Order: sequence, then C-alpha cells, then structure tokens
Amino acid sequence: MTPIIRTVSDLRALARAWKSKGETIGVVPTMGALHDGHLSLARRARSECDRVITTIFVNPKQFNNPDDLKKYPRSEEADARLLATVPVDAIFAPPVEEVYPEGFISTVTLAGVAQPLEGHMRPGHFDGVATVVTKLFGMSLADRAYFGQKDWQQLQVVLRLVRDLNVPVEVVGCETIREADGLAMSSRNVQLTTRGRTKAPVLYAAITRAAEDIRSGHADRMAIREAAETMRAAGFDRVEYIELRDAETLMPSDDPTRPRRMLAAAWIDGVRLIDNIPV
Ligand code: PAF
Repeated sequence: MTPIIRTVSDLRALARAWKSKGETIGVVPTMGALHDGHLSLARRARSECDRVITTIFVNPKQFNNPDDLKKYPRSEEADARLLATVPVDAIFAPPVEEVYPEGFISTVTLAGVAQPLEGHMRPGHFDGVATVVTKLFGMSLADRAYFGQKDWQQLQVVLRLVRDLNVPVEVVGCETIREADGLAMSSRNVQLTTRGRTKAPVLYAAITRAAEDIRSGHADRMAIREAAETMRAAGFDRVEYIELRDAETLMPSDDPTRPRRMLAAAWIDGVRLIDNIPV
C-alpha cells in the first residue's frame, strides 16, 4: 500500500531523500473523494516525474460556507486504493493543525485573475486556494504540479502566483475528464440527487452549443442568454453565471483573436456545478 504521510517534516525528509538522488517530484494536489479526473492527473505526473506525491487535504480556508465544508465528501481509504492503481509514491494527508498550526497568520492574495467569477461568488475562496497551494509546493519540494482544467480560473490563479512569486514549480494544466454524457467529473457529483444527475449534463451541452453559435457568428450575449434559458428549462434552480472571458486574465473579452473561455456555474438540487470550455 502507498505510504500515507501526516507531517510536513516526514514529507520533507522523503522529498529531500529523492532530490538527493537527482529524482524529479510531481505533486497532484487534491481534496480527496478521488475520481478518474484526479487519477488522470496522477497518471500524467507518473509518466513525467520520477516520484509522485498526491496530497489529500480538505482545505478549510477555501470554503466560504461552513456547511459546504462539513458536507464535503471524504473517503481516504477508497482514495488510497485508487491511488495504488496508478501507482503514486506517497500520499500526503495531513491533519488541519499540521497545515495551519496555532498562530498561523499568512495569506497569499491575488488581485486581477482571482477577483471575478468564482472570486466574486465565493469571497476568500482563492485566498484559501493560493495559500494552501503555495504551502503544498513548499512542503513537497515539487518540480511539477498537476491541476485540472475543470477549475480553469483556479489553474490561471496558480499559474499567476507561481510566476509572480518566483515559485520554482512547473504548473501543468490537464484536460477535463468527462462522464460519457459530458458531465465534468467532480468530487461534488456524488452529492447530486438522481434527478440532478440526469439533468446535470445539460450544463456542458448548453455552453458547448453557445460556444459553437458564437464561433459561427452569433452575438455573444444572445448565445449566452439561450444557454441560461436551456439550463433553467432543464431544471437548474439557479444559473450563477455564464461568461465569455479572456482565457488568461478572466476579464470580459469581445476580442475573438485572443484565446477565450466560456465559464459557467449553476445550481441543481442544492449542488453547485462549474464547467468551462474554449471558445
Ligand atoms: O482543486 C482542488 O481540489 C483544490 O482547490 C486544491 C487545488 C487541492 C487546493 O486545496
């Protein structure tokens, strides 16, 4: 079975031993409740690095809603079994006090890319993500770090912070893995009701259609409005946003010559889903 490491000093000792032999380290940061999307990140890391660490840490600082944190799925034993199939070299699953010991007062905050969309809907979320990711990079001595494009804005935030703070980690963004019906894999999908699960793929279908319409010359606003209507008609309770943004800065963009991304967040039966696609 894969060793499960609980302390920063044990993780550092292991990472230093690997580094002293000239081995490269890939880290796959996760909050557990692993699915094929996470495993595809771990497999990619496996194929590109000598050593692979998967971190499993439900980071309280990135939850702006205490109820959401309480309900977040946790399944360490099952996660370890799945990771053994990759396989990874170590799992880092520290308790909260190890990551945020008494007296912890530092926060990594980004302006710009971290502010709109998820940053606006979930105040403090990206401060929590940026802080924990910076810590995980420092703890694991990783050369490369693997993130899914499903959390596109998070990926841009991490790319920006690594550049701004000269963190010596190469950030690798990996394709979103989808269920056969198009639903992006997410740890939150297990929270969907049977009805919610049936309707959830409409999110991807609606933004895909809108992106196609925009590419073939339809007005951006009109295509987006139609996507929101399709989702409401399918039973989504609330469409928080569907936005066409510059793929890197996440600022509004009506410049089709620059890479653009359509990003969406919506609620169905009490579960918040996000997704995004290139336009
Ligand atoms: O994407 C996630 O699961 C989390 O935001 C991350 C990157 C592991 C940080 O807690």
